[in-house]
Amino acid sequence: MKLLIANWKAAITVTEAMEWLHTFLDYVNTNSIEEKLEANDVHIVICPPFPFLSVVKERCLLYKNINVGAQTISSMGQGAFTGEVTAEFVKEYASYTIIGHSERRKYFHLTEEEIDQQVQQATAQGISSILCVRNEADIIYPDVAHIAYEPVEAIGSGHNAPIQDVLAMKQKLKLPENASFIYGGSVDAENIASYLQTGEINGFLVGTASLHADSFIKLVEAVI
Ligand code: PGA
Repeated sequence: MKLLIANWKAAITVTEAMEWLHTFLDYVNTNSIEEKLEANDVHIVICPPFPFLSVVKERCLLYKNINVGAQTISSMGQGAFTGEVTAEFVKEYASYTIIGHSERRKYFHLTEEEIDQQVQQATAQGISSILCVRNEADIIYPDVAHIAYEPVEAIGSGHNAPIQDVLAMKQKLKLPENASFIYGGSVDAENIASYLQTGEINGFLVGTASLHADSFIKLVEAVI
């Protein structure tokens, strides 16, 4: 199985998201992309901001291999926690969640303890975690199905990590058995094929190149 994850971050509006889906689903429908995704065991995961989760889910409902993910979830369960979005709420719309993205660690001071709780919350609600790690110092939790290696210097910089560095990190990380190994950091239509050729990478977490449907479509073309 391969995952192609679109992480929209806080970078597009709901209007832009609807235009994105219009273009993308039109491409999917007119090129029999669902069949190709299924034949190649590729799953697309679209991660919008929380307020668009339901509308994105609604639009993607009929597509088995086009799934919805959250960009994070609360460390807390349901209760008196003003402003939190819990795994229980998220599971109505999303089957995946990103956890521990380096931007949350950096700007929102996300701690390892909170990450541990988030993984537990996701697991308890049947949401598949995509745990982001910056290097081998970040903790990997045993329940996690997908580990995304995202070197900080490669994120949003246009400087994707060299393939040999990514493969070397794969060896260093203590990946849970059967966990998929995902790479993220300036993945684009030019460099994705070289990662795929290694046969060692089970997916991609994409920010910048996922913000426009046209550039994301090029990535889909590369993985199917
Ligand atoms: P990028 O972002 O593709 O813009 O480097 C990746 C990420 O932050 O997940």
